[in-house]
Amino acid sequence: MEQIKGTSTSCLLVLLISSLATAQVAQRYTSLNPCTSKGKCHECIQTPSCAWCYDPDFGDSARCFQPSQAYQQETRCREEYVLNPDNVLSVLAARALSKAGRVTGGGGGQLVGGAEGSYNHSENWSESGSLSGSAGGGAAGAAGGIVQVSPQRLNLKLRARQSYSISMKYTQAEDYPVDLYYLMDLSKSMNDDKEKLSTLGDKLAATMKKLTSNFRLGFGSFVDKVVMPYVSTLEEKLNRPCDICVAPYGFRHHMTLDKNTHMFSQMVKDANVSGNLDAPEGGFDAIMQAVVCRNQIGWREQARRLLVFSTDASFHYAGDGKLGGIVKPNDGLCHLASNGTYTESSTQDYPSIEQINLSVKKNSINVIFAVTQSTLEIYEQLAKTIEGASVGKLEGDSSNIVTLIKEQYEQISSTVEMKHNASSAVSIKFFTRCLNSTGSLVNTNKCGKIKVGDIINFKIDIEVLKCPKNRADYKQTIQIYPIGINESLVIDLEMLCECNCEKPGDKFYMESAPACSHHGTYKCGVCDCYAGAFGRHCECTSDEISRNVTTMDCVPPGSPSGLECSGKGQCVCGRCDCETRANDNERIYGRYCECDNFSCERHDGKLCSGADHGTCDCGVCHCKDEWTGSNCGCRKSNATCFAPGVIDGAVCSGHGKCECGACKCETTEEGRYSGKFCEKCPTCSDKCIEYRDCVQCQQYKTGPWKKPEDCRANCTKFVPIPVEEVTANEETEVLCAYYDEDECRFTYVYYFDNENKIQIRAQQERECPDKVYVPGIVLGVIAAIVLIGMAILLLWKLLTTIHDRREFARFEKEKMMAKWDTGENPIYKQATSTFKNPTYAGKG
Ligand SMILES: *[C@@H]1O[C@H](CO)[C@@H](O)[C@H](O)[C@H]1NC(C)=O
Ligand SMILES: *[C@@H]1O[C@H](CO)[C@@H](O)[C@H](O)[C@H]1NC(C)=O
Ligand SMILES: *[C@@H]1O[C@H](CO)[C@@H](O)[C@H](O)[C@H]1NC(C)=O
Ligand SMILES: *[C@@H]1O[C@H](CO)[C@@H](O)[C@H](O)[C@H]1NC(C)=O
Ligand SMILES: *[C@@H]1O[C@H](CO)[C@@H](O)[C@H](O)[C@H]1NC(C)=O
Ligand SMILES: *[C@@H]1O[C@H](CO)[C@@H](O)[C@H](O)[C@H]1NC(C)=O
Ligand SMILES: *[C@@H]1O[C@H](CO)[C@@H](O)[C@H](O)[C@H]1NC(C)=O
Ligand SMILES: *[C@@H]1O[C@H](CO)[C@@H](O)[C@H](O)[C@H]1NC(C)=O
Ligand SMILES: *[C@@H]1O[C@H](CO)[C@@H](O)[C@H](O)[C@H]1NC(C)=O
Ligand SMILES: *[C@@H]1O[C@H](CO)[C@@H](O)[C@H](O)[C@H]1NC(C)=O
Ligand SMILES: *[C@@H]1O[C@H](CO)[C@@H](O)[C@H](O)[C@H]1NC(C)=O
Ligand SMILES: *[C@@H]1O[C@H](CO)[C@@H](O)[C@H](O)[C@H]1NC(C)=O
Repeated sequence: MEQIKGTSTSCLLVLLISSLATAQVAQRYTSLNPCTSKGKCHECIQTPSCAWCYDPDFGDSARCFQPSQAYQQETRCREEYVLNPDNVLSVLAARALSKAGRVTGGGGGQLVGGAEGSYNHSENWSESGSLSGSAGGGAAGAAGGIVQVSPQRLNLKLRARQSYSISMKYTQAEDYPVDLYYLMDLSKSMNDDKEKLSTLGDKLAATMKKLTSNFRLGFGSFVDKVVMPYVSTLEEKLNRPCDICVAPYGFRHHMTLDKNTHMFSQMVKDANVSGNLDAPEGGFDAIMQAVVCRNQIGWREQARRLLVFSTDASFHYAGDGKLGGIVKPNDGLCHLASNGTYTESSTQDYPSIEQINLSVKKNSINVIFAVTQSTLEIYEQLAKTIEGASVGKLEGDSSNIVTLIKEQYEQISSTVEMKHNASSAVSIKFFTRCLNSTGSLVNTNKCGKIKVGDIINFKIDIEVLKCPKNRADYKQTIQIYPIGINESLVIDLEMLCECNCEKPGDKFYMESAPACSHHGTYKCGVCDCYAGAFGRHCECTSDEISRNVTTMDCVPPGSPSGLECSGKGQCVCGRCDCETRANDNERIYGRYCECDNFSCERHDGKLCSGADHGTCDCGVCHCKDEWTGSNCGCRKSNATCFAPGVIDGAVCSGHGKCECGACKCETTEEGRYSGKFCEKCPTCSDKCIEYRDCVQCQQYKTGPWKKPEDCRANCTKFVPIPVEEVTANEETEVLCAYYDEDECRFTYVYYFDNENKIQIRAQQERECPDKVYVPGIVLGVIAAIVLIGMAILLLWKLLTTIHDRREFARFEKEKMMAKWDTGENPIYKQATSTFKNPTYAGKG
């Protein structure tokens, strides 16, 4: 840069160096800037936040740039040559909502601009400006009757991948006309229903008149196709299937929608039941005719249209006609004779559910199935597949028909559901607060409980996801409509996907232009060379390739290696012809082949974590909205790190960090946290101990706080719920078990409920071991010892006695034996010894 300042002497030198500097700058920003690599005007325009410079004297640097970073641009584009189309909204029709003035006193009229506010939108609100005054409402009413949707028509010019918000209001007008066509199954089983309905006709009319003064009623009936096997085709059965029956028919329109409700009762009374064979009826034929025969039935353009379909049997649908030999599919058109009968009954098959869905939608009709208990379920399934349909349970004799219709009508009219018919190239999202003016915007297209006069504001985000391949699809008409109302917001959407200067006739479009060496078309400042020609100005043609061209132009400036075309291409005619890769998904590009779209960071083996996460551009991953990280592998939002069901919970339960959309749990002194949301900690001291004393005192009146006043003072957080047996749900509950001072075991679980309040279930009774009677044991032991001692003594006594007896017996025996030998024992010596005293003898 300093060089540029210093060398102001030579104009040529400046140009050269500045262009070198530009190239360097360009190279440095290529990686950050998605624009620079776009070489054509329409490619540039289709990239959000990029602008194109079509200045013919701009030079050779990148023409696609980011206006927000224009200060980094060494050679700025002259203001008048910048092509940076803005999103433009213009309002073509915005008649004021009916009664809006009376109810809210100018409820709105402002249209929310683009999300960023930098978009230009026309300020033409001359019509909607009169919203606040009742005069405006009156004028609108005069112009086209009731208005329930505003605005009605917009023109929107939108660039790709830029979201644009518009606002739309819906209201339920007072006294909105109601057309009710009563379609009745007149097979024989419905005879009592018919009688009842003929008496209830006036009541029905009176009830509906309370809801709207502008009410019309019509009547039609159906049986089934007059073909075997649906009805008997025997001669006498055909004319009189039963005693009170008339000949069967497919569908008959009896009474065109009319204010005269007495006529309705009379018509119902006059209609005669008929008979058929099989259980299902041909109601689909009737629905189709009643829906599509707009003139005959008399549907008004502006009215809530209700088609009450009452039956006690199920229905035939497309394909069933084959049983009767009818193979021609239903054409979905009106075929009513002047006398009101359906003429194609026995030549066309029944319509399919999808056909019904489509025609009901097209004609904004709400079908109400009033069916008996036995078929309720099947009609509930059917109603789910038909837009705006609902089901009510009919009593066996239709006695509740008036309340049923009233309830269904109130249900239908108090709900608004927005739909649109945009193609998949356009994303449309609805946001609304419904009736809660203080609440937050919710992403929904449905609001309920609306009363007459309420104004519902919808914020509608429109985004062109991708420019369509076909240029004819650049202009689309999108209809946004509430279900069941023949009013809509029509948006003429024009996608800004191309540049005018790329189209013939523009000043900056020229075929065989001199600026392109007569070998190409000049478009928006750049050359589009014909086949065989190339070069920035198409200066090279294939026959010139052999020419000696300097390779200097192909070496990136400042490149230390001096490799031509970064080694990934050939230098042809001073221009890099980058290698083409064998793999179609890989591309090398850039002026010096310095970029490619396959050498970015990979994650799980996928480039930039796969195409749905991000795209690779010149070595850098450009992540899609909800992804981030150098390889787009990380979720931006941390919504997946909050434990579900916990309100106001912290990220990762407060025990970890949210990285890449997953919790990284921490390890504290307490222990290691684990689980998807770091909610578990097996080694942490849990709260069991904390709650133990309270559980004890509250549930069992034991423990340290068994005194009631202690218990009351300390235990305020919870009251245990006593249960027979405590079982813990592993995921959310923790099981605790303790022994108390009485050696009794008690268990309880604690968990946190949806409001994050502690809840405890405790075992009703403690499990205590059976009481032991200590003195009994002592006495028993003593008694046992005594008994054992005595037993031993007795045994001893017994043994000695036996021994003694045995000895004595032997003695006796020996004594007896001794009788045999009475002689002197030789060794026996007399115990008396004779001693002679010699001294005494002499004297004696
Ligand atoms: C917005 O449009 C008006 C004319 O419709 C024009 O004068 C004005 O310059 C535009 N503003 C921008 C920022 O493009
Ligand atoms: C505003 O709309 C009216 C009628 O739709 C039209 O005559 C008028 O030219 C418009 N004004 C602008 C500034 O677009
Ligand atoms: C119904 O039957 C009665 C007598 O059977 C007959 O008079 C009347 O015309 C029939 N109504 C219709 C609409 O066919
Ligand atoms: C009604 O008209 C059709 C043809 O126009 C005829 O076939 C049919 O018999 C008529 N039905 C009655 C009940 O008059
Ligand atoms: C809806 O209303 C428009 C006029 O507001 C009318 O042209 C169109 O036919 C109506 N559509 C239906 C199905 O009645
Ligand atoms: C009925 O039509 C609506 C609107 O066109 C469509 O969204 C829905 O999928 C259709 N239902 C079925 C079952 O095709
Ligand atoms: C949406 O409906 C409108 C009116 O019926 C129609 O003109 C338009 O072509 C439809 N758009 C698409 C994308 O089908
Ligand atoms: C409105 O929304 C807020 C916040 O979402 C909520 O607190 C409030 O209860 C809602 N009011 C009604 C009436 O629903
Ligand atoms: C071709 O270029 C080389 C050097 O790059 C030079 O020596 C030679 O004279 C040139 N030949 C012609 C015909 O210009
Ligand atoms: C690389 O570019 C080519 C040509 O534009 C494209 O077909 C391919 O899908 C791109 N590959 C990736 C991974 O983006
Ligand atoms: C993650 O959630 C917290 C709220 O707990 C929020 O403050 C923070 O901005 C969020 N981070 C991201 C990247 O969304
Ligand atoms: C429990 O209550 C007693 C008396 O009411 C009190 O002395 C003691 O500090 C309380 N213990 C706790 C943990 O609050």
